[in-house]
Amino acid sequence: EMLEKGGYDHFMMKEIYEQPRSIRDCLRGRIYPQQGKVQLGGIKEYTEKLKNVDRIIIVACGTSWHAGLVGEYLIEEYARVPVEVEYASEFRYRNPIITEKDLVIAISQSGETADTMAAIELAKEKGATIFGICNVVGASIPRLTHAGVYTHAGPEIGVASTKAFTAQVSVLTLIAFYIAQQRGKITQSKMVEYLTGLNEIPNLVQEALKSNDHIKEIATRFKDSTNCLFLGRGSSFPVALEGALKLKEISYIHAEGYPAAEMKHGPIALIDDDMPVVFIATKHSSYEKVISNIQEVKARKGHVIAIVTEGDTEVKGMADYVIEIPQTNEAFVPLVATIPLQLLAYHIAVMRGCNVDQPRNLAKSVTVE
Ligand code: AGP
Repeated sequence: EMLEKGGYDHFMMKEIYEQPRSIRDCLRGRIYPQQGKVQLGGIKEYTEKLKNVDRIIIVACGTSWHAGLVGEYLIEEYARVPVEVEYASEFRYRNPIITEKDLVIAISQSGETADTMAAIELAKEKGATIFGICNVVGASIPRLTHAGVYTHAGPEIGVASTKAFTAQVSVLTLIAFYIAQQRGKITQSKMVEYLTGLNEIPNLVQEALKSNDHIKEIATRFKDSTNCLFLGRGSSFPVALEGALKLKEISYIHAEGYPAAEMKHGPIALIDDDMPVVFIATKHSSYEKVISNIQEVKARKGHVIAIVTEGDTEVKGMADYVIEIPQTNEAFVPLVATIPLQLLAYHIAVMRGCNVDQPRNLAKSVTVE
């Protein structure tokens, strides 16, 4: 088993460290940065559909649903197509309005999640076109869908999803740029710039992993916490949700992810000198606004752990701990900012003596309702 874990103590850690490679595998043969071109063989036949589609509905559960939320930001921002993201379990039971004109994208690492399969079947009955984003080749979901894009992350053994999430986000990024390209929403030179940036992501993830020791120290400080808040804005909001899910599922610490601006509508009441608050505070569009949210937490004596852009000095001056990630285009922040949150959850869980690869009450894929 030690051999299977590649020298790491747990599959989860092995899988976290595999991400530079798994993201590279996911992008391979699909992006041509110099030509500014995205190629997705699995959905090529549906290019006309993508040119004309009025609405995309994403269905998924858990971490895959979080990837879907990142996808919503990316597809709306770059391809300018309206996107709705639904929990498969809710979608299937609420008589959703779907027509033949819709495109449904189902996301699933395992390709076997019961609720996601039922959502696909329902949308199919109503005549929608269904794409799958799956990791396991030949699983049930890829067989149920009309077309799809595999994530190629390799087998994920740890129950807590890590490399499958970043691969799903990578595929959604590719889909967003593919649709943008087909609909003429991005100039050729901009495409070259974006794809050159995307091509660098595996290296930036490798850089981000270098904070491991520093994150371990931070984990020592917060391992006995009973609660934790994760806050972010824009596409960092789903990253916050994912950070909270990782922590709660493997360490059993109660954690909540929120859009940072929503804090004052409720969660702020929880903040006292016993509450750690993790912020995604990179130097992008809502940077200044996140800074004021950090100040609100500090004013109430909360402990701030901030994920910041390398070289940041402003947040450093107010946060208790900062974790730097390399500078990248805003489009790719979720891929890099997720890494320290996975490591933080991992170290806290290990320090609490939890079984990180097989947390209590959880199964790798939920094949029953
Ligand atoms: C993630 O860490 C989970 N354990 C869980 O939420 C998972 O993402 C969810 O069950 C969906 O699984 P799937 O991607 O295989 O469909």
